[in-house]
Amino acid sequence: MTENKKIIVAIDGYSSSGKSTMAKKLAKDLGYRYIDSGAMYRAVTLYAMENGMIAPDGTVDAEALGAVVGNIRIDFAVTPEGQHTLLDGRDVEHLIRSLEVSNHVSPVAAIHTVRQALTAQQQRFGAEKGIVMDGRDIGTTVFPNAEMKVFVTASAEKRAHRRYLELQQNGTPSPYEDVLKNVIERDRIDETRAESPLRKAPDAVELDNSDMSLPEQEKWLMELFNKTEAAINGRDC
Ligand code: DC
Repeated sequence: MTENKKIIVAIDGYSSSGKSTMAKKLAKDLGYRYIDSGAMYRAVTLYAMENGMIAPDGTVDAEALGAVVGNIRIDFAVTPEGQHTLLDGRDVEHLIRSLEVSNHVSPVAAIHTVRQALTAQQQRFGAEKGIVMDGRDIGTTVFPNAEMKVFVTASAEKRAHRRYLELQQNGTPSPYEDVLKNVIERDRIDETRAESPLRKAPDAVELDNSDMSLPEQEKWLMELFNKTEAAINGRDC
C-alpha cells in the first residue's frame, strides 16, 4: 500500500474561536507539526514591548521594528506540557498570552515588514507539508494552495468567555468586560487592516462552533481531513 501524501491544513478564524485547540489536536492525531502563527505575532509584539518600540499611548515604532524583525528568532519547543514559543531561545509561552500583549498585537500585526518576515518564516515551516497551521491569513496569503482550509467563527461573547477562562487558568486573570472589549477591538483591526485582512478564503469550509463541544469540533475536523485526504489520494491512483 502506498503511503498517503502529506498535506497542508490551514485553519483561520477570529481570535479565541478555539481554532488553536482544534488545530493542535488534529496535528497530534495525525503526527503532523502544529504551528501557531498568532504566537509568532505575539512574540514579535513582546519583543517590541521589551525593546521600547511601543509608546505609552500604544503607538508602535514600525520603522525600528521593521529594521530588526528579520533577525528575531521564533521557534517552537515541544514539551510534556505542550508546545512552547521561544523568542530568541527564551521560553515566552506565558508572557505572550497576557492581556497586555493581546492589547498591542493587532497594530504590530498590521505592519507590512512584520507580516513579510513572519509569512516567509511560516512558509519555511510548511515547506515539507505535514503541517497544521492556524492564524488569520494562512489560507489566503501564507498557503493559498493548502489542500485543506477551514474558517472558524463564533460569537464575540462566547469567544471572550473562553479567553477569560484561559487567562484565569494561565494565572493572568482579567475582568470579562476588558476581555470582551479586547476581542471586539482585535476583530475590528484584523478585519480592516490593509494587508492580509482576516477573511474567509473562497475555498475554505466554514465552521461556527458557538454551540459545539470540543469533542464535536474535533470530530468535525477529523472527518473533513479524512474526506480531503481520500479525495487527494484517490485522484492520484
Ligand atoms: O490567534 P491569536 O489571537 O493568538 O493572534 C494574535 C494576533 O496576531 C491577532 O490579533 C492577529 C494576529 N495574527 C495575524 O495577523 N495573522 C496571523 N496569521 C495570526 C495572527
